Amino acid sequence: MERKVLNTLIFSIVTIFFFSFTSSSSASFQYQTLVVNTLPSSATLSWPESELFTGESESTTSLSVHLSHVDALSSSLDASPVDLFNLRLRRDSLRVKSITSLAAVSTGRNVTRIPRSAGGFSGAVISGLSQGSGEYFMRLGVGTPATNVYMVLDTGSDVVWLQCSPCKACYNQSDPIFDPKKSKSFVSVPCGSRLCRRLDSSECVSRRIKTCLYQVSYGDGSFTEGDFSTETLTFRGARVNQVALGCGHDNEGLFVGAAGLLGLGRGGLSFPSQTKNRYNGKFSYCLVDRTSSGSSSKPPSTIVFGNDSVPKTAVFTPLLTNLKLDTFYYLQLLGISVGGSRVPGVSESQFKLDATGNGGVIIDSGTSVTRLTQSAYVALRDAFRLGAKRLKRAPSYSLFDTCFDLSGMTTVKVPTVVFHFGGGEVSLPASNYLIPVNTQGRFCFAFAGTMGSLSIIGNIQQQGFRVAYDLVGSRIGFLPRAC
Ligand SMILES: *[C@@H]1O[C@H](CO)[C@@H](O)[C@H](O)[C@H]1NC(C)=O
Ligand SMILES: *[C@@H]1O[C@H](CO)[C@@H](O)[C@H](O)[C@H]1NC(C)=O
Ligand SMILES: *[C@@H]1O[C@H](CO)[C@@H](O)[C@H](O)[C@H]1NC(C)=O
Repeated sequence: MERKVLNTLIFSIVTIFFFSFTSSSSASFQYQTLVVNTLPSSATLSWPESELFTGESESTTSLSVHLSHVDALSSSLDASPVDLFNLRLRRDSLRVKSITSLAAVSTGRNVTRIPRSAGGFSGAVISGLSQGSGEYFMRLGVGTPATNVYMVLDTGSDVVWLQCSPCKACYNQSDPIFDPKKSKSFVSVPCGSRLCRRLDSSECVSRRIKTCLYQVSYGDGSFTEGDFSTETLTFRGARVNQVALGCGHDNEGLFVGAAGLLGLGRGGLSFPSQTKNRYNGKFSYCLVDRTSSGSSSKPPSTIVFGNDSVPKTAVFTPLLTNLKLDTFYYLQLLGISVGGSRVPGVSESQFKLDATGNGGVIIDSGTSVTRLTQSAYVALRDAFRLGAKRLKRAPSYSLFDTCFDLSGMTTVKVPTVVFHFGGGEVSLPASNYLIPVNTQGRFCFAFAGTMGSLSIIGNIQQQGFRVAYDLVGSRIGFLPRAC
């Protein structure tokens, strides 16, 4: 009798499984439309100075600033769209190396530590304004009276810094170098102060030195070092006093022409952490395609700080904590769907952040192409190829191994791609994963594999979303079509 009940039970379970299986596999494969555009040419940099310093604060509790893509700042304005794209991919590979090596340093794994230069100190903060330092920058004022400079935004590092005179070594930047002697609000941070101790492994090398020194090193050997200080920053209509920043007198390496960097990481010295009392540890950005600098009819990319920067209707996923490294924003990625069904070879276990700080998935504004651990990438790519088998394939390009020839087409149906995060799903627009790589209609699937265990969600996949970073609420939000 009992056996019969058990059999019936098993039979019903099997039936349920069978039905759910057949119903999902018979459900129609999901496509969406890609508008076939070509590679954009470089943006021209136009930054209305009138945008800045319109008197006293419009609001003390929120801040909104336009962003530009770094292509507009580099000296390659006459470069062709393909050259610019190739440069971007080269920067991207440097960026991924830097991030991966920082994550590895923190786990104490086999990474050569960057030798400290004599007189320098402070730990290995990799990333920043080297060629792999980030793709978007903003204009802001430094000091009193304010001097206008460009600063790169970097969600992959914490310390805010800029080049300062006198220079032991300064790279070429597009504005005059900031002179702290001409600013009434510049204050050196004393050695041994609480602020100085917050720098990673800060120490005051020589007892004779009274001011706190900082050093930020990059994976490629580039670095900046100088005096740790506090200074006033001026954003469109808003002054933020006493921001702790590095005043860099020695800045060496493969840098691009911005004056410095605004660290937007999750660590204590980043700009959002420092301004927690005012902006409540919240900011969001919306990255439109990199040619929009605000001068065209397209809306510009923007960054917003404060409570209002986090849209209530966004899809939220909790931030995970890496006990070994507090800079990066780790997300819980459970899987990915292609064409409406979960890819069987992509699972939470490939994205797990373990207790030693290995693995995990971070979201980053400075990485362009999303990198997934190799096995997850291969499974995703194969599922996409299968779903896109009616499209004409084209040769690989750079790091992309799945490309299509869409020449002569204006629109094309492509499989949908959906990220499944803890807390919600984020469905990507087609242009966030099938991107032009030349001007002859070749498009590639814009994901790549990585041999490391750290996966990175890059800015191509974030385009068009308002991406909200809530440090106080420990969550990241995505709101589509919100630029
Ligand atoms: C932001 O929101 C928090 C929580 O709702 C509130 O306590 C705080 O006062 C708000 N801050 C500002 C500046 O409005
Ligand atoms: C560190 O690297 C060396 C040589 O590159 C290798 O022999 C060693 O096994 C590595 N150690 C760890 C802990 O990975
Ligand atoms: C430095 O930058 C300026 C303006 O961006 C440019 O005109 C100049 O040629 C550059 N100098 C060098 C040595 O690269």
